[in-house]
Amino acid sequence: MSDKPVVRLEKDGDIGVIIVNYPPVNALGPGVADGIIACLNQANGDPAIKAMVLMGDGRSFIAGADIRGFGTGRKRAPLGERTYDVMDRSPKPIVAAIHGFALGGGLENAMGCHYRIAVPSAKVGLPEVLIGILPGGGGTQRLPRLAGPQVALEMIVSGRHVPAPEALKLGIIDELVPAGADMRETAVKKARAVANIRPLPRVRDRAAHADPGIFDAMRKSIARRARNQKAPYNCILAVEAACTLPFEDGMKREQDLFLELENADEAKALRYAFFAEREVAKLPDMPASMKAADFSKPAVIGAGTMGGGIAMSFADFGYDVRIMDATEEGLTRGMDRIRNNYATSVKRGSLAQDEMDRRLARIHPVAGYDDIADCDVVVEAVFERMDVKKPVFEQLDRVMNPDAFLFSNSSALDLDDLASVTKRPEKIAGTHFFSPANVMKLLEVVRPPRAAPDTLATAMALGRRIGKISAIAGNTDGFVANRSRAPFNSEMVILLEEGCLPEQVDKVMIDFGYPMGPFAVGDLAGLDIGAEGRKRRLAANPNYRTLPIADKLVEMGRFGQKTGAGWYRYDKSDRTPHPDPFVADLIAQVATQMGVRQKTFTDEEILRRLLFSSINEACKIMEEGKAYRASDIDVMWLHGFGFPRYRGGLMFWADGIGVRDVYNQIASWHQQYGERWAPSALLRQLAESGTSFRDAKPAPFV
Ligand code: 3HC
Repeated sequence: MSDKPVVRLEKDGDIGVIIVNYPPVNALGPGVADGIIACLNQANGDPAIKAMVLMGDGRSFIAGADIRGFGTGRKRAPLGERTYDVMDRSPKPIVAAIHGFALGGGLENAMGCHYRIAVPSAKVGLPEVLIGILPGGGGTQRLPRLAGPQVALEMIVSGRHVPAPEALKLGIIDELVPAGADMRETAVKKARAVANIRPLPRVRDRAAHADPGIFDAMRKSIARRARNQKAPYNCILAVEAACTLPFEDGMKREQDLFLELENADEAKALRYAFFAEREVAKLPDMPASMKAADFSKPAVIGAGTMGGGIAMSFADFGYDVRIMDATEEGLTRGMDRIRNNYATSVKRGSLAQDEMDRRLARIHPVAGYDDIADCDVVVEAVFERMDVKKPVFEQLDRVMNPDAFLFSNSSALDLDDLASVTKRPEKIAGTHFFSPANVMKLLEVVRPPRAAPDTLATAMALGRRIGKISAIAGNTDGFVANRSRAPFNSEMVILLEEGCLPEQVDKVMIDFGYPMGPFAVGDLAGLDIGAEGRKRRLAANPNYRTLPIADKLVEMGRFGQKTGAGWYRYDKSDRTPHPDPFVADLIAQVATQMGVRQKTFTDEEILRRLLFSSINEACKIMEEGKAYRASDIDVMWLHGFGFPRYRGGLMFWADGIGVRDVYNQIASWHQQYGERWAPSALLRQLAESGTSFRDAKPAPFV
């Protein structure tokens, strides 16, 4: 922490430069707003100062309000006495000089200034909706006046970060700092140039006019993705107020709409998710000296669906990547698939043709191991069987530079066993991508016991550099994400045996907030994949709970979308799942054969049966020391499985129910259904001590 005050006033001749210094990103933490006001008052009271500049020290302008302060009963200055109110009353002009980020309260303060300049790499935005609130510092009133209601609506409802050159076009900033010029010098020059301009151009004095239809159109367009949420709708109401009410009344309306959100469950869950995503990067038992290696030449082995997606992830983030496959046909097919995937994005309008061409040109198909020998990091993505993966690692160990990192995309296999075929087990770790690999944000970094700290740091950094959220997992069957999800996958099929239909279960989970139901997801991923894993587990454990309905579908060649039928049936060239009476009959038949009496289920029972089974498994994972924190498991569920973000994550949601209630229910299902519901010892301990899942202390990582 720096020993400078959180806000200081420096003099640059006749210009007062107000500098915020609250590392790392200059959030508006304790003392910052008061400091800005004090410096503004001091500068306004100093006859030698003609104009002011507001800027940030370190890596950013101001990243917004201090999120840690929300929901803590923090005291906020009343309307009319906040930083931007003091700016509005300032008799001297203020120039905001933006680098890094001007987000939330940061942009709101910048909009309180009379002029805004930014370096080209800066980003501005009002991302409050992403943490379940709305811009509560005048953002919903000033942005529509500055950039127009349509732009403001889009930015505030999406929360997106707008790059400075675009912000210039939208009128949010007035000038870009020329390349090579010093930002502070440019801002001081600007302040001097506008020192005598009167009246001062205040954003609040502008008018915002909108076609009233844009608000309903926005409500309609977000209906699906904003399901069960309030913040996006309050954002729309607040921008609407900017267009219909005088400024002061609009500010009051914004305040009321903000207060409705700050302490709601939605905001609590989203704040939790924000911090969980940052915590997950921390490996508490690793030496502080642990450093990620800088890699620049990645290679992918295996040009199947996963390998192709992984290669695309590298190419999408600017890496030249080499890709190889066991056969020439496999490689050609893989490259065709990659090309088709990009072409689909171009057709949908989410990717420009020239960008597709650039990305495709970065993916280099190569014939064999010798062609990747100089690569510094390899991700293996061949067929998920140890006898297929081991020879690949033997070859890699032979040809690759001894410093190269060898990562496996296995989703379940023992990576220590895999590492044992090489002479460099310390360089081996798992990088488990989720399908589709170029889309899903989660990268599960699997830590076999012999992996060196810098290997893990490099695998974690690899994820970050290609836009993923890396989360560490222990080397246990299914690792953490899939292992914690596995009981859910079994339970959903067992529910069919007991009387549910796929479409009923899917509806419950969609209502809960998932983008797709689990049966429809199964059809998308391919039912043959799960069947392989079940076979392997049954071979290893004769007591393994089989899923006869799922196995029968696979035996019949109903693999899901790719065969036109799975849990649902699909029409040609259409991905809509249609409930299939054939499946309903099959379920009834199998239930009869198994002697299970079918009954009806409430939505709540279905939801709890699925999620509680996974909560119990997550506790087992923690008690075995295979995860650092419950919140890491939440991050995995958010980014690997589409768990609704506004519910925080599996374990956060469970805390909302209460650890004792969860335990009691699981214990009662243990009585009813037997061993598969045996409560985890950690869960029992938490229930007995009344400790939340969030505060659970997992066993030391092994
Ligand atoms: N409040 C509190 N802490 C914050 C913060 C904030 N607004 N923004 C970042 N941090 C913390 C992070 O938790 C992290 O802490 P850690 O090192 O202890 O884990 C540290 O700052 C660095 O953050 P990142 O790791 O995220 O750094 P990046 O460089 O990757 O990203 C960023 C920087 C884009 C600014 C990102 O941190 C971010 O998106 N921050 C949140 C921005 C935001 O939502 N602003 C709006 C706040 S709400 C508001 O302003 C309300 C107002 O309208 C009334």
